[in-house]
Amino acid sequence: MNKVIFTFLASLLLLVSVSCGNNSKSADGEIEVGITIYRYDDNFISFMRRNIETMLNGKVKFIMNDSENDQVKQNDQIDAAIQRNVDALAINLVDPASASFMINKIKPTGIPVIFFNKEPSKEDMLSYDKAWYVGTLSEESGNIQGELVVKAWTSNPNWDKNGDGVIQYVLLKGEAGHPDAEARTERIKAVLADNGINIEQLDEQTANWDILQAQNATDAWIEKFGNKIEFIFSNNDAMALGALKSIQKQGYNIGDAAKFIPIVGVDAIPEVIEEIKKGTVVGTVLQSPKDQAKAIVDMLLNVANEKDVLDGTEYKLDDVKAVRVPYRAITLENIEESAEAYK
Ligand code: GAL
Ligand code: CA
Repeated sequence: MNKVIFTFLASLLLLVSVSCGNNSKSADGEIEVGITIYRYDDNFISFMRRNIETMLNGKVKFIMNDSENDQVKQNDQIDAAIQRNVDALAINLVDPASASFMINKIKPTGIPVIFFNKEPSKEDMLSYDKAWYVGTLSEESGNIQGELVVKAWTSNPNWDKNGDGVIQYVLLKGEAGHPDAEARTERIKAVLADNGINIEQLDEQTANWDILQAQNATDAWIEKFGNKIEFIFSNNDAMALGALKSIQKQGYNIGDAAKFIPIVGVDAIPEVIEEIKKGTVVGTVLQSPKDQAKAIVDMLLNVANEKDVLDGTEYKLDDVKAVRVPYRAITLENIEESAEAYK
């Protein structure tokens, strides 16, 4: 081909692709979105992931990645998505503190991004006008969990095994630095104090939302404190299950009323719902993976199609451009309320 004609054709092609704008960015002209999940084997997150997949299926081309709890891996996955020129991104950060790094990478490309589940700082959120967040209000889960404990403790005087009027408790914490873990850990104690309930912390361990780590921590606690433990406060349900497994091995929470340690969690995953029904777990705080996935997908499709992020929805953005899905207390009395969220 003649060089002049080639150059002409090449610039024509460029012109055509530019004039098509964002709507046909990916190579084959189809709208494409990229989603990264901090780790597929997180119990609660696996429900979010499956919901997102189901909701995107047939609607848009998408690539979803497992970042395997590795921020470097996630950075590479985002680089690859940028290379593919995706129309929008949804990111469940590995490390919430890496949001600024991510935004610095994404902002020059103009690709819109919906962060979810691991909340970036306010400063980071406000540093890019095409960044939004879908999640919950972290403090709310700690407040509700605290209120749940107040109610359960005051209506079960026999749980104060040493009769000193003080809750001797252990606490299982999620990932350090994760807004949910920090807020849940702080708020439950604050709510108990605000309600005039005296507490004594026997120990607090970080178990990273993980069933096995929680089981190991609880094994050590049972060995050290045994039946002196009057409550197990867990930042999430997976860790609550780990604690339950551990204490059941030692004969707790299997029917002997004298060997009972109340446990509370957060998420309302189906396995914990089953335990609440059996009376082995006292309660949990529902956060709906379905409602959050729906918000993520609605907003992602909107921005990928260059519509207003809230187009056709009833969501409201707060001062950090976040959509917050509310939490709800779940105990035996309203156990069926959690079913819909995990269907
Ligand atoms: C929390 C949830 C935990 C864990 C964590 C991951 O909101 O309660 O179970 O999934 O997110 O970031
Ligand atoms: Ca006591």
